Amino acid sequence: MADPLAGPDPLTGRDPLTGRDPGYPAEQRDAVYRVIAERRDVRRGFRPDPVPADVLGRVLAAAHQAPSVGFSQPWDFIVITDRARRERIAALASRHRDEFAADLPGARARAFDALKVESILDTPVNIVVSCDRTRGGRHTLGRHVQPQTAEFSSVLAVANLWLAARAEGLGLGWVSFFDQRELAAELGLPAHLEVIAYLCLGYVTEFAPEPELATAGWARRRPVSWAVHAEEFGRRGLPGEEPVDPLADVIAAIAPPDAVAMTAAAERQDRMTKPRGSLGVLEEVSVRLAGLAGSCPPPLPEPACVAVFAADHGVHAQGVSPWPQEVTAQMVANFLAGGAVVNAFAAQAGAEVTVVDIGVAAPLEPVPGLLPRKIAPGTADFTAGPAMTRDQAMAALITGTEIARDLVAAGNRCLITGDMGIANTTASAALICAFTGADPAEATGRGTGIDAVTYARKIEVICRGLSRHQPDPADPVGVLAALGGFEHAGLAGFILCAAALRTPVILDGVIAGAAALAAAALAPDAVAACFAGHRSAEPGHAIALDHLGLRPLVDLGLRLGEGTGALLALPLVQSAARALRDVATFDSAGVSDKQ
Ligand SMILES: Cc1cc2nc3c(=O)[nH]c(=O)nc-3n(C[C@H](O)[C@H](O)[C@H](O)COP(=O)(O)O)c2cc1C
Repeated sequence: MADPLAGPDPLTGRDPLTGRDPGYPAEQRDAVYRVIAERRDVRRGFRPDPVPADVLGRVLAAAHQAPSVGFSQPWDFIVITDRARRERIAALASRHRDEFAADLPGARARAFDALKVESILDTPVNIVVSCDRTRGGRHTLGRHVQPQTAEFSSVLAVANLWLAARAEGLGLGWVSFFDQRELAAELGLPAHLEVIAYLCLGYVTEFAPEPELATAGWARRRPVSWAVHAEEFGRRGLPGEEPVDPLADVIAAIAPPDAVAMTAAAERQDRMTKPRGSLGVLEEVSVRLAGLAGSCPPPLPEPACVAVFAADHGVHAQGVSPWPQEVTAQMVANFLAGGAVVNAFAAQAGAEVTVVDIGVAAPLEPVPGLLPRKIAPGTADFTAGPAMTRDQAMAALITGTEIARDLVAAGNRCLITGDMGIANTTASAALICAFTGADPAEATGRGTGIDAVTYARKIEVICRGLSRHQPDPADPVGVLAALGGFEHAGLAGFILCAAALRTPVILDGVIAGAAALAAAALAPDAVAACFAGHRSAEPGHAIALDHLGLRPLVDLGLRLGEGTGALLALPLVQSAARALRDVATFDSAGVSDKQ
């Protein structure tokens, strides 16, 4: 029998008890993990020293050892050092950089201006990694069903190259601001090869500890626990830990505002070079932003992104809206084409527009800017049964949390609610009645504009829904399932997650108000993250805001939805934070205070 104290077998290195290969000795293993953790995309601080041929050879040999589909080794490496060629290539990249910049919303464009995205001329060597999809012939193992595995293989060669470069003390930056054909022509690539990566390589003075895009606030690192699922997508949890309940997790992360930061903000407002209280409601906004962020001054709420949650409603069948249901999908297409009011207001306020299909009846084509998250093609008619199942309500809530989380991870520091759904003022009024106890006759409005007969029917439909379901406000998921729309549940999740991430969320009109009531019923402290963008003409909205204790920032009789009213309030919220940051105090400016 093997002696457990004997240590690894001197010949095989195996553990004598288990027969397993023990892996590398600890310090070698640490070096592997170290190079993985410390590999960086480098754009700055390159030194002009040439890369010796033997070092370059080792790095390329490492790249060439990458795994490849069917062992097809589809890569080639084109090593570029000629200055004139690099200048021509840099000119190609800079044209596409400018085009990209011209497309960005305000705050993103300013942040992008400060970013360096290529170092083609700052590095002594550039390497192009290409892919030959035809290499290995017709019967390449594994490429038959998934032709894109050829490109995957070349990307793995890039990863090897990147890691080896780091271990050699070489910085490497990947540049993707190219038109494939332009670059291929410059490099004389045969037509059957495609460019996978353009890499800039050279010695550096130092490696940054974190991605430059994280340091610059462009995007954040997602925790590993968000990326690991147990058995099925959505059952998130790290090995050895219980799967997390995503909604419970978000709710548990919501905490009251930071009282110390709020006091500091209020005191600073009093010392700023202006009469005390002269910024009115904006002083309160700045104090709330500080409390939410836990710091005074709080970060500027930019970049900002409006998420337009779109869904259809079974209650439309009751004749509560003069608009046909197809308009929901048609307006989604309009948002994506940039032709709606939300697009105009977002462009003016410098915010990005994201559209979420959380339950549009019609199938929608995948296009950039649309998040396909359909729970079902519209809810059921709540006068005939529950609008959705409890599982669907939960799924929509969780979807909303994930969208908020991704938008914050993408660098947004302010979220804005938007919505689209023909008949959604009916579901909103029903939710507001359920959560506040309001009378349907008081909470119901004319939506897009309805005649007296339709208005009376709308109230009667809401009364029928309420009496059929007898919703219990202590069971917010049950209320959403009985009467809500998928956009309401999605927005409720969106608001909860914004609160958990201590990111301000500007609420639009009555649909957001109804969703915020659900969020507040699930986690009362979520209201601390909410800023009421405006007060809509829908009477139920004022009831919801009163119940939430929120004061609307704009009151212009708007009743459009889409996120429009909230977008108008965005500069107000941003100005409130900016004033707290930038305005001098009596002491610092040497201005005399009032006696
Ligand atoms: C496919 C791909 C394309 C990239 N293109 C660019 C680019 O054009 N410009 C740039 O500055 N960085 C580019 N990067 C680098 C990423 O921005 C960088 O990897 C990311 O911010 C994470 O930082 P890290 O690599 O330092 O961990 C690219 C990375 C990948 C994987």
